[in-house]
Amino acid sequence: MRQCMAIASNGRLLCKKVRFMLKKIAVDQLRLGMYIHSLGGAWIHHPFWRSQFLLDTAKDLQQLRASKIPELWIDLRRGLDVFSPTHTATSLDPMPEHTASAHTLAENSPLALELAQARQLCEQAREAVQDMFQEARMGKAIDVNTCTALVQEISDSLAKNPDALISVARLKTADTYTYMHSVAVSALMAALARQLGYSEEQVQQAALAGLLHDVGKARADIEILNKPGALTDAEFEHIKQHPVTGYRLLQKSVADTLVLDACLHHHERLDGKGYPDGLKGTQISELARMAAICDVYDAITSDRPYKRGWSPAIALRHMSQWCGNHLDERLFRAFVKTLGVYPVGSLVRLSNQELAVVFAPCAENTLVPKVVRFFDIDNCCWLRQPVLTDLRECQVQPSNGGGDALSIIRREDPNTWPFDCQVLEDLWQNACQASHYAEDDSQHWLACPALLAV
Ligand SMILES: [Fe+2]
Ligand SMILES: [Fe+2]
Repeated sequence: MRQCMAIASNGRLLCKKVRFMLKKIAVDQLRLGMYIHSLGGAWIHHPFWRSQFLLDTAKDLQQLRASKIPELWIDLRRGLDVFSPTHTATSLDPMPEHTASAHTLAENSPLALELAQARQLCEQAREAVQDMFQEARMGKAIDVNTCTALVQEISDSLAKNPDALISVARLKTADTYTYMHSVAVSALMAALARQLGYSEEQVQQAALAGLLHDVGKARADIEILNKPGALTDAEFEHIKQHPVTGYRLLQKSVADTLVLDACLHHHERLDGKGYPDGLKGTQISELARMAAICDVYDAITSDRPYKRGWSPAIALRHMSQWCGNHLDERLFRAFVKTLGVYPVGSLVRLSNQELAVVFAPCAENTLVPKVVRFFDIDNCCWLRQPVLTDLRECQVQPSNGGGDALSIIRREDPNTWPFDCQVLEDLWQNACQASHYAEDDSQHWLACPALLAV
């Protein structure tokens, strides 16, 4: 819990929770990340038409410091506090350029190798799906052999490392969204099938259904498909044709009726309000109910031209509320387990009072994922460089010289912190992309911060 030290009337320091707390400060104590509750002095003494806002730009900070306002009120519930006297940093400056972008990872580290392989597979899969869509657009039959080989590789990759592929498949651009979405849903389906104890053959069946589920979109109007805004009713009706279109396309080359059914019914809902057939409850096959969960998760966590994706933790919270009406609760619980207690991309608080983004879950123990540490809460400042840390290696062991363990205290809601969610996504993406580079900069990528004075 964020706390601030306030001097009580009897002179003793008392610790108070900052919830719902307003504090009067001098203008020269202002720093980025504070939430302005009200500005002192007359309105003509400052250039702001509003009095309540998050101070998140250097320009606003400068204008306030240059104004004739002597003091103002900040809301500690919605933004940062002033620094305590022990803090050495003087302001929460914008994230330094190098912090946002410069990540390096030892080329031969297991993580770098895992990610490099996953990236290669994703790229291969994306190209294959793109070709498949192209052929479907031209009316050609789907090449099932390519798809089968691909899902075999996806399944093998997940068996070796369940995290790397799912992590890398999150990376999408506007151009590749539809194709990468198919790859991501395929990987999620395979992982969920494994979680449910499916046989290897069934895992590949699930992966194939994920890969093919949206192939009907190949025949959709590309303008409508990529429209950067809300669809009209007519446009939505047009897009809603894709499960049936896909089913008809696939019927020519896919013999597996369960896979065909999952592709046809991945937009059905338990309450019967889905499409195309308005099926209810167990009328929807298990594979189709799994596809609905994986499809929705990947769609709502991805950035689209008209909407930023939700963080994994927030997406799961929303999805849990859709269980019963839309999604199958039992399968959803298994899905959450697949992603780990701390899904990739989540914001977490560590025991050393740093903020970190979850980079990749740990298969053996979901409580100790790999994280990218980037923010020092006590000093309200960015770390000099983001640090990729494997928390599994930071547990107390006799061999670690008695260093303190480093662990996650809890998840944090990104909306309660004064930085854009994009920062988290950039940190995660840059850490992913950084494993491309061979530069070994162990000063910045420390294997185990618990051995240091953190
Ligand atoms: Fe779909
Ligand atoms: Fe989809």
